[in-house]
Amino acid sequence: MCPTIQLSTEIIDKHMTATLYIVGVGPGDPELITRKAFHILETTPVIATPKGSRNGNSTALSIVEQAMDISSREVTHLYFPMQKIHKKNGPSTDVQEAWDDAAEQIIEFLEQGKDVVFPTLGDPAIYSTGYYLYETVLSRKPDIRVEFVPGIAAMSSCSAATGVPICLGDDKLAVIPATFAAGEIRDTLQNFDTVVLMKVHRVLDQLIELLGELDLLDHAILVERAGMKDECIHKNLAKITDEVHYFSTLIVRK
Ligand SMILES: C[S@@+](CC[C@H](N)C(=O)[O-])C[C@H]1O[C@@H](n2cnc3c(N)ncnc32)[C@H](O)[C@@H]1O
Repeated sequence: MCPTIQLSTEIIDKHMTATLYIVGVGPGDPELITRKAFHILETTPVIATPKGSRNGNSTALSIVEQAMDISSREVTHLYFPMQKIHKKNGPSTDVQEAWDDAAEQIIEFLEQGKDVVFPTLGDPAIYSTGYYLYETVLSRKPDIRVEFVPGIAAMSSCSAATGVPICLGDDKLAVIPATFAAGEIRDTLQNFDTVVLMKVHRVLDQLIELLGELDLLDHAILVERAGMKDECIHKNLAKITDEVHYFSTLIVRK
């Protein structure tokens, strides 16, 4: 067989088989990285890691670094501006540009035949950039192979830290970002048995006021940085005086 032809076939095959892994790394405790995620993170040549500010660190990457040595790996940082995304309106131009840019970088590695792993905080299925990235990559290259690996969600870790179950029996559960309009949060709190509020850090004062009005303050518990070294559980929300960390989740269970 002609060696040149054989070589080019190998190259084409390699291009076709490179995979993008979108992997949940849990909410902070490196021991909560699943075995499957660990294995993929340890063996994939390129780590494409998200960060919310250009000069900041990637929390997902820092969780991975606590679990394994990545010094021999190719790491590329993808910047995703932290902005509200309303499904009705779609992303802002900045956000769309960031997704496009990230997708291009990832496609470039995949086209070189290199598998890429995108570690994401918690579980990729819950308010993660992973799915936006997935859609953007696929819109450009529909034949790319993508594999998702679920992770432990922050709310599961918050539940474990507090001993408060998320739902039992015929409970109705709602998971919402606290950045919704107050009216919608009020309706949700009234209509569900458990409400998990994420992204609470900037609106905690308004939430505390609303919980007070609905007589739900005694049913609320806030977990800041679950599973991280400085984890903090707030059972009495009225006592919180400083702004809480972005990694804070509020569980309201009636
Ligand atoms: C962009 S969402 C990511 C959610 C993540 N994909 C998951 O599965 O939990 C960010 C929000 O997750 C919650 N969160 C993430 N890590 C957390 C932690 N270690 N402790 C408490 N809440 C956390 C906070 O509500 C934060 O505002």
